Amino acid sequence: MSKKHNLYFLVLMLIATFIIFGDNIFTYKRSKQVAEDTSRLQLLGIGVSLEAIIQQRGVSDLKNEQVFQKIVSEGRWEGVAFIVLYDDKHTILLHSNQNLIGRKLKETSLESQVIVDDITYGYLTLGTLERVFVMDMQIHSLSEKLTLRVATHTHEINRIIEFARVKILAMTVVLIILWSFYFIIWRYTKNAEQLQEKIARQEKLAAIGQMSAILAHEIRNPIGSIKGFAQYMLESDAMKDEEALNIIIKESKRIENLVEELLYYSKPIDVKVERFYINELIEEVVNIYSSDRTKFILKNHLKKTISSDRDKLKQVFINIINNAIEAMQYQGSIEISIFDHNEGAVVTIKDFGCGIDKELKEKIFTPFFTTKAKGTGLGLAIVKNIIDALNCEISFKSEKDKGTEFTILIRDIGDEHKGF
Ligand SMILES: Nc1ncnc2c1ncn2[C@@H]1O[C@H](COP(=O)(O)OP(=O)(O)OP(=O)(O)O)[C@@H](O)[C@H]1O
Ligand SMILES: [Mg+2]
Repeated sequence: MSKKHNLYFLVLMLIATFIIFGDNIFTYKRSKQVAEDTSRLQLLGIGVSLEAIIQQRGVSDLKNEQVFQKIVSEGRWEGVAFIVLYDDKHTILLHSNQNLIGRKLKETSLESQVIVDDITYGYLTLGTLERVFVMDMQIHSLSEKLTLRVATHTHEINRIIEFARVKILAMTVVLIILWSFYFIIWRYTKNAEQLQEKIARQEKLAAIGQMSAILAHEIRNPIGSIKGFAQYMLESDAMKDEEALNIIIKESKRIENLVEELLYYSKPIDVKVERFYINELIEEVVNIYSSDRTKFILKNHLKKTISSDRDKLKQVFINIINNAIEAMQYQGSIEISIFDHNEGAVVTIKDFGCGIDKELKEKIFTPFFTTKAKGTGLGLAIVKNIIDALNCEISFKSEKDKGTEFTILIRDIGDEHKGF
């Protein structure tokens, strides 16, 4: 699957997630509303019937005949929990539980109240911790201001809400499965891409390697003669133009250096694993620069042994430090830290030099890419080769005119991987 397809798939997944979640929230809210509406209608029906009975027969008659108690105990209206009639001082005049008549009503205010046409609906939590749906209705035509309260069990409302919850849960599980699939496919695609990149890189390296071998062979011999000749003239005092001769030597050395780097780059990397202290290796590298003006700050200097190719890693650190020194124009300080890592150790090398332009960041590991008048552009290409051969990882952060920090994860490749 290409990157474009991947993006389409991701957009599709996001839309699906959005629709499913939106639908679930809507269904949940709607179910609750429908369930409450149904209960409200039922309560209203009961309320109106009871109002008529109260007006017809009067409070004392109903009390004597225990009408409210009978309605509830005989289950005349399904789901009714209790019925109560109370006055404006909250004194209970009628109750489905005869024992409570004459007492004061404890709870008067309802939770999640809704008022429709002067009738209040809401929830009440009873002493038994049961939550009931309640309607408070004024009985108008009597001389006293009385309120009729009818409460129903919330089993039906709960059942509908529970069903909506189960649906949401099921949909969430479906979404998790879908996203897991997406993640697996994404990982698989990424791995395939990385493999392709690696193959392309290896092919490129093989071609460059061939070219380098030829180039090195062609340049090496004549350069050797020039250098030897110039050195001979300088030492034997045969010529007086020392400055010109020095230039010949310097330039020859530069080409010799290029040839060495080309050869180093073109050769397949022969990994020699040994166990060593990473902190000692860093100290050894830093010592190479002891006569330089650059200051080295070993910030987090962890002492740890590692199994890897010591010499190759030394080359990696030297190439990165050379660049750092050049970026700071041979002055300033370089911070080096060693951190622990479950797979080995992490080394960071930070300079405060010129930094790398945004558009050049992708190119710095490409062979022969350089921004320096006298650079070969092979320093970091060699670094990358070694890093790949040693199963390590390299990354960097850089900000223009602020500096650059390289991070190298050195994997312990273990003694059993000697032939790695
Ligand atoms: N620490 C750094 N700060 C700023 N730029 C950097 C840094 N490291 C690398 N670069 C950039 O990456 C380019 C490539 O680096 P690389 O080491 O491969 O080659 P070079 O230093 O130019 O030449 P060589 O190392 O072969 O002498 C550099 O020319 C430079 O532009
Ligand atoms: Mg370099």
